[in-house]
Amino acid sequence: MTANKASDNHTHDQVFDDDIRNIIDNEIKRQQENIILIASENFTSQEVIRTMGSVLTNKYAEGYPGFRYYEGCENMDSVEEIARQRANKLFGSNYCNVQPHSGVNANMAVFLSVLKCGDKILSMNLRDGGHLSHGHKQNFTGKYFEIHTYSLDPDTEMIDYGAIMKQAKIVKPNLIIAGASSYSRTIDFSKFREIADEVGSYFMADTAHIAGLMTSGLHPNSVGVADFTTATTHKTLRGPRGGMIIADKKYGGLIDKSVFPGIQGGPLMHIIAAKAVAYKEALEETFKDYSRRIIENSKTLCQNLKDEGFRIVSGGTDNHLFLVDLTSRGITGIEAADLLASVGLVLNYNVIPYDKLTPTITSGIRIGTPAVTTQGMGTAEMEKIGEYISTALKNMENQSVLSDIKTKVKKLAGEFPVYSNMNA
Ligand SMILES: Cc1ncc(COP(=O)(O)O)c(C=O)c1O
Repeated sequence: MTANKASDNHTHDQVFDDDIRNIIDNEIKRQQENIILIASENFTSQEVIRTMGSVLTNKYAEGYPGFRYYEGCENMDSVEEIARQRANKLFGSNYCNVQPHSGVNANMAVFLSVLKCGDKILSMNLRDGGHLSHGHKQNFTGKYFEIHTYSLDPDTEMIDYGAIMKQAKIVKPNLIIAGASSYSRTIDFSKFREIADEVGSYFMADTAHIAGLMTSGLHPNSVGVADFTTATTHKTLRGPRGGMIIADKKYGGLIDKSVFPGIQGGPLMHIIAAKAVAYKEALEETFKDYSRRIIENSKTLCQNLKDEGFRIVSGGTDNHLFLVDLTSRGITGIEAADLLASVGLVLNYNVIPYDKLTPTITSGIRIGTPAVTTQGMGTAEMEKIGEYISTALKNMENQSVLSDIKTKVKKLAGEFPVYSNMNA
């Protein structure tokens, strides 16, 4: 079959380009047969996937509902309006922008709205859990702003608010960022607010990872506390890949202009529609229970590995992820992650606080439970996964043990099927 299939009467998830279809089929199989423990990944609903695959992708809609630079945007206005209303309800906000294509874009738009080149940002050190877009030297933030970073307390491996207050008084930042990619503890946004007020700085909470836990009431809400809250929609929120910004409506004009025309052109309307679908799902009572189970699973798996003798950064977790320090085991993060992937346990190697190894090697691995919880796995399965991880890491040279684990992992994954109607 060739060319334009727009007139074909097929379901959304059928792709007829053989090369691409084969890859999609392989990826469906990979997601079904492995156990996904990457803290930033999830299985979005088929409703979200169908919406992303809709004709909304065809439409240019530069601008915002009520004022667009293109004709024919009446349906785009409706979809963006619904997305905004649902997002505001979910986050308890009076303004949001749902157009950022990604988490980094959301952050970038906030920076563009209140900072100028050379301004000072105070953010969490990357090595301690911060994100590239908070000031890494290769990132635009590192090139255009003066970056100062705060570290975790070396003993507790938790945020030391007193130390940040002292540092902020010296640095006098224009913007303070709270939020991280690999911090397993509750963040006290009100303490960051106090620090920002003390030094007269803006305060942005990057809730990319924890947004779904936050809207479920399982993490303190940054909305109404931070000046700006950014989030991704594809991690614990379980929606399509994308970003969003929430702020008080007094900043609405500034933020809207920073997103478009500041850093983006036409919004991805199919993604905005899929965000609306995900917000609706996240507003359901069952989503709160889902979020609760993510944390329960994370704590169970974390405790299991602790009982097996692994050192957990900060000693535990309050959220959907935790870090395992492999230093005393004599293996690096990348060796462990590669080995675990070979038996079907997919996670990522990660720097740990004060890591002596580089980010491409690392001393740790990061483990997260949003995806396995979406699959329906509970604490009993976490015990099994903990056993598989520790047995594999303690028997790295033993091919028969590893092959036995691989069989068990595949069996366990198969007991909690995802996207089973999508099989080729
Ligand atoms: C804290 C934080 N902010 C921003 C992002 C960037 O999101 P994206 O990959 O959608 O640009 C991430 C992604 O992992 C993140 O962890």
